[in-house]
Amino acid sequence: MNGESQAAVAVVGAGSIGVAWAIVFARGGHDVRLQDPDAGRREQAPAEIAQRLDALAAAGLLGEAPGALAKRITLHADLGEALAGVAHVQENAPERLEIKQELFERFARLAPPDAVLASSSSAITASSFAPADSARSRCLVVHPGNPPFLIPVVELVPAPFTADPVVAQCRERLRRCGMRPVLVAREVEGFVFNRLQGAMLREAYCLVRDGVIGVEDLDTVVRDGLGLRWAVIGPFETADLNTRGGVASHALKMGPAYARMGAERGQHDPWTESLVARVAAERRARLPLERWQARVEWRDRALMALVAAKQSFAPVEPEEGT
Ligand SMILES: NC(=O)c1ccc[n+]([C@@H]2O[C@H](COP(=O)([O-])OP(=O)(O)OC[C@H]3O[C@@H](n4cnc5c(N)ncnc54)[C@H](O)[C@@H]3O)[C@@H](O)[C@H]2O)c1
Repeated sequence: MNGESQAAVAVVGAGSIGVAWAIVFARGGHDVRLQDPDAGRREQAPAEIAQRLDALAAAGLLGEAPGALAKRITLHADLGEALAGVAHVQENAPERLEIKQELFERFARLAPPDAVLASSSSAITASSFAPADSARSRCLVVHPGNPPFLIPVVELVPAPFTADPVVAQCRERLRRCGMRPVLVAREVEGFVFNRLQGAMLREAYCLVRDGVIGVEDLDTVVRDGLGLRWAVIGPFETADLNTRGGVASHALKMGPAYARMGAERGQHDPWTESLVARVAAERRARLPLERWQARVEWRDRALMALVAAKQSFAPVEPEEGT
């Protein structure tokens, strides 16, 4: 995050995600042109932004005064006016193919010829909405978690025709706004965030359906178990740190059981030796086994800080806090 002056950005669509992106880009020092054809949304958005900025400041998460950030965001009805002179367009219209196709046609005509043209699309790929002309080399999906001013990870999903320097420029801009961009190398439905979320939700529904566990207890397993750990380390690092000898040793011990659980659900994707070797090689490059114990201790300290933070705000029964 920085308060330095950056190139102007257009945020198209001022719904939940558009308003949130406006905050992210303003926080990164960009002047933001927030555009929406709906007069009601243009009227409501400034108060929503002010409320969120005040809440972020109260939580100590803003480097500047809320008023200074709010001043960088202007509301626009006219698309051409919003796009004039911008370096980046972030589209947040409803998740409908024909709307995105029409908007990207208009971006290609109205935005500067070197502007990055990005969509927050949850599932529609750039291959399906990008225009047929040369502007398509500047199109990609930039998929945030909700809300992006709190969830730093953002998926960059280029189409096969998206130019590499466009992806690189986009990644750098988002990084400077305090985001954690990750590259999704191929266009797959659901990208990665929602595929992982979907894998867990599919199993959760099956377990509830089969009477293995109740809904609240399942949420407790994730909230006070898996999710707590995942807030500091991902699933590969979890496997790596849970077993002496690291992820290769984990796969040897646990792989057959996980393969049986997958087969029970009709899935046949065994962790082959070569796949495990690839994952293990990446893990060992990041964490040589000599440093494994120190990292386990770091994980525990990180969990202690998280547990303490949760105790300071989370009631035993979550509903009480809402
Ligand atoms: N809500 C989420 O959790 C989430 C998370 C990640 C990505 N997304 C994606 O972000 C996009 C926006 O989702 P949302 O939840 O903010 O939707 P939303 O319904 O809250 O907002 C959509 C906004 O787009 C405006 N709009 C309609 N037609 C338009 C047009 N032609 N040009 C410009 N604006 C137009 C609407 O007036 C509305 O303000 C979708 O593609 C969605 O899949 C949503």
